[in-house]
Amino acid sequence: MPSPPPEIWREDVRQTTRDLPQGHILIVSVVGTPGPDPSLEALADDFATCAAWAKEAGAHVIEANLSCPNVCSAEGTLYQDSTRSRAVAHRIRQAIGSTPLLLKVGTWDRVGAMREFLQAVSGFADGVTLVNCMNRPVINSQGHPVFGKDYPTAGVIGRTIHSPCVQAVQEARNCIDSDGLGLTLAAVGGVSTVTDIARFFDSGADAVLCGSSPVYLPSLATDARNLRADW
Ligand SMILES: Cc1cc2nc3c(=O)[nH]c(=O)nc-3n(C[C@H](O)[C@H](O)[C@H](O)COP(=O)(O)O)c2cc1C
Repeated sequence: MPSPPPEIWREDVRQTTRDLPQGHILIVSVVGTPGPDPSLEALADDFATCAAWAKEAGAHVIEANLSCPNVCSAEGTLYQDSTRSRAVAHRIRQAIGSTPLLLKVGTWDRVGAMREFLQAVSGFADGVTLVNCMNRPVINSQGHPVFGKDYPTAGVIGRTIHSPCVQAVQEARNCIDSDGLGLTLAAVGGVSTVTDIARFFDSGADAVLCGSSPVYLPSLATDARNLRADW
C-alpha cells in the first residue's frame, strides 16, 4: 500500500493467473482508498470496485485488507470497528458473488472485540486472515520514532511476532467453533520453519501463509510440502 494504478495491477493479476502452475490458486488482496467523500459507503464502494476488478482479472480468492498499521487513514483500522467491517464485507459480497472472500485483520486489545468482529462478518466473508502485523512503537537509540513523528508505531512482522500470532489464531478458532460461525482461518505471522507451520495448524488454522520469509527462505513451502503431503 499504495499499489500501482489499477490498469497496471489488473494486468499483473491477469498475467499471473495465466502463468499459474496447475493446482495453484491466486489470492488477490485489495483495499479501498479514501477519496474526497469521507462516508463509509464511498470507502465500501471502492473496496467493492477493487474486489470486482480482481475477480474479473482471474483471482480465485479475494482478500480484503481491513488492517494496515502503516497508513494513517481510515482503511488501515477498519477491522477495529465490527459494524463498519460488516458493511464493507456486505458491499464486497454484493460485488463478487460467490467468489471466496477473506478479511485480513490485526489484533484487538479489548477483550471480546475479536468475537464481535467474527460474529459481525460471518455470513458475508468466508474466512479471516490473521495476523497482519503487530502494531508496536519502533524507536531509534534516541527514543524517537524510526519512521518519523506521523508513525509513532509501525507494523512489526517476522519471527518476533510468531508466538502472539499463534495465540490469536487459537482464540479465533475457539470463537469460530463455539459460536458455530463457519469461517475459514488463514494464519500468517513469523513463519520461518516447518515447526512454525505445524504450530499454526495445531492451533486451528485451515491454511498457513508466509509474508516476509519467502524473500530469504524461498523453498520453505515446498520443503514443508515434501515433509507433510497433507498440508
Ligand atoms: C513488503 C511487505 C508488504 C506488505 N504489504 C501488505 C499489504 O499490502 N497488505 C497486507 O494485508 N499485508 C501486507 N503485508 C503483511 C504480510 O502480508 C504479513 O501479514 C506480514 O508480513 C506478517 O507475516 P510474516 O511475519 O510472515 O512476514 C506486507 C508485508 C511485507 C513484508
